[in-house]
Amino acid sequence: MVSKTVLGLFTAGVIALGFTSSAMADAKASIEARQACMKANGGMMKVMVPIIKGQKPYDKAAIDAAIAASQKACGGWADWWGADTKPDTAAGKAAKTEAKAEIWSDAAGFEAAGTAYVTAEAAVLASTDEASFKAAFPALGKSCQGCHEKFRQAD
Ligand code: HEC
Repeated sequence: MVSKTVLGLFTAGVIALGFTSSAMADAKASIEARQACMKANGGMMKVMVPIIKGQKPYDKAAIDAAIAASQKACGGWADWWGADTKPDTAAGKAAKTEAKAEIWSDAAGFEAAGTAYVTAEAAVLASTDEASFKAAFPALGKSCQGCHEKFRQAD
C-alpha cells in the first residue's frame, strides 16, 4: 500500500513549485535539506544492495530502519522546490544544486517520478521475506534512476 503521507508530500511539492522566498538562506537550506534526503536514500541503497547481491543476509529490521531514515530525512520535501532553488539562482549556485531546470518546466513528470519512488519504497517496506524483498527492490532502484536521468545533473 502506498504511504498516503509521503505521496501527499510529493503532490504538495508540485503545488509548492510556485513558492518564492526572498531570503536566500531559506532557499539554500531547502537545497541542503533535499540533498540530505537524497544522502539518506543513498544510505538506504547501501543497506539494500548488498542483500540483493547476496553479500549480506536478508535483514528485514535493517531494511525497515533504512526506509524509516529516508522517510524522516525526506519529510519536508514539499517545501524544498521553490523557484529560488533552481540551478541558475544564487542559492542554487551557493549550494551546488544538481537539480535540473526540468523539475520546474516538467512538474508533472517530476511528480510522476516521485510517485514511482514512493510507491516502490512502500512496496519494499511491505515485503515480509527475502523473496518478496527481492521482487520489490528492482522497481525502487529503477525509480531512483528514472528521476535522476531526467531531473538530476550528471556528475
Ligand atoms: C523524484 C526525483 C528523485 C528520486 C525519485 C530520487 N532522486 Fe536522488 N536526487 C534527485 C535530485 C533532484 C537530486 C539533486 C538535489 C540537489 O542537489 O538539489 C538528487 C540527488 C541525489 C544524490 C546526491 C545527494 C548529494 O547532494 O550528495 C544521491 C546520493 C541520490 N540522489 C540518491 C537517490 C537514491 C538512492 C534514490 C532512490 C532510492 C533517489 N535518489 C531517488 C531526485 C530524485
